[in-house]
Amino acid sequence: MIKKIALLTSGGDAPGMNAAIRAVVKTALKNELEVIGIRRGYEGLLDQDFIEMKRGSVSDILQRGGTMLLTARSERFKTPQGLAAGAEILRKNQIDGLVVIGGNGSLCGAQKLNELGITTIGLPATIDNDLAYTEASIGFDTAINTALYALGNLRDTSYSHGRVNVVQVMGRHCGDIALHAAIGCGAEGVFLPEREPDIMGLCNIINKRRDLGCLLNIVVVAEGCPLSLEEIKAVLTKQTGAEVRTTVLGHIQRGGSPTSYDRLFASRLGAYAVDLLLKGASGRACGIKYGRLVDFSFEDALAIKKNLDESLYELFELLSK
Ligand code: F6P
Repeated sequence: MIKKIALLTSGGDAPGMNAAIRAVVKTALKNELEVIGIRRGYEGLLDQDFIEMKRGSVSDILQRGGTMLLTARSERFKTPQGLAAGAEILRKNQIDGLVVIGGNGSLCGAQKLNELGITTIGLPATIDNDLAYTEASIGFDTAINTALYALGNLRDTSYSHGRVNVVQVMGRHCGDIALHAAIGCGAEGVFLPEREPDIMGLCNIINKRRDLGCLLNIVVVAEGCPLSLEEIKAVLTKQTGAEVRTTVLGHIQRGGSPTSYDRLFASRLGAYAVDLLLKGASGRACGIKYGRLVDFSFEDALAIKKNLDESLYELFELLSK
């Protein structure tokens, strides 16, 4: 029988985290559970930065980006002492279950707490979409849409000036944002962390297009691409003679009101997490497969390596030429 649960958001924020918080709190209150919000992720856990979550705490947050519980990347918590201190604080405060909303590092933290005997459930939330066990993570859909909005604007001005625009999107290890955005905006080139950049191949494509009078060219580059924007710009300028501009979208992609997909997905996950806790589950990472919510042990979920979706890459290659 659980009576009191806690929840936190951790790592980089992601649009839809608030929708997940709201769903956890409302589902828990409906089941007469006490709910504690831990502010600033695992940092806040160690500082015991707790707030009691009531019905009113989550009103008017569904549509907001960011996280009302605030977030952090905690180095302290990663140490064995920090981890043990976190588990002890949860025990001392009689927390029967913890919901962690975050990305890879955050779910690893939840797994370690679980190994120390703390009942934990993890919800995937990261704009990077780099958790392989789930087909989506909270915030990814919104981030691509934000990137597409910006890329659309860049297309307009690039077309008018006949320029090449090289645009950096987020993703240090995972090229999902770049690949999805590149397909969605009809880019001519995409450079991903998972692939060697074929810059001469791109120059050939741009030169052929320029010969045909298509001066507008968009190249989407993931943060984790081994070539810097300046290096790419230098080669493109030299090999194509085109005027090249570079743009870094940066943290713009992390904010903004969540899309309908992220609101619904996050709401479903939040309610699902509480249901799992009520059923006595622990150490589960929740996600989605073929449209259905699923949960795996942290061990199984986090052991799966994220690979580039080759079929999407092939689709990009087909459509970008
Ligand atoms: O949350 C994921 C992410 O946005 C990555 O895409 C990016 O590389 C990183 O976080 C940036 O982290 P920070 O906001 O700490 O600079």
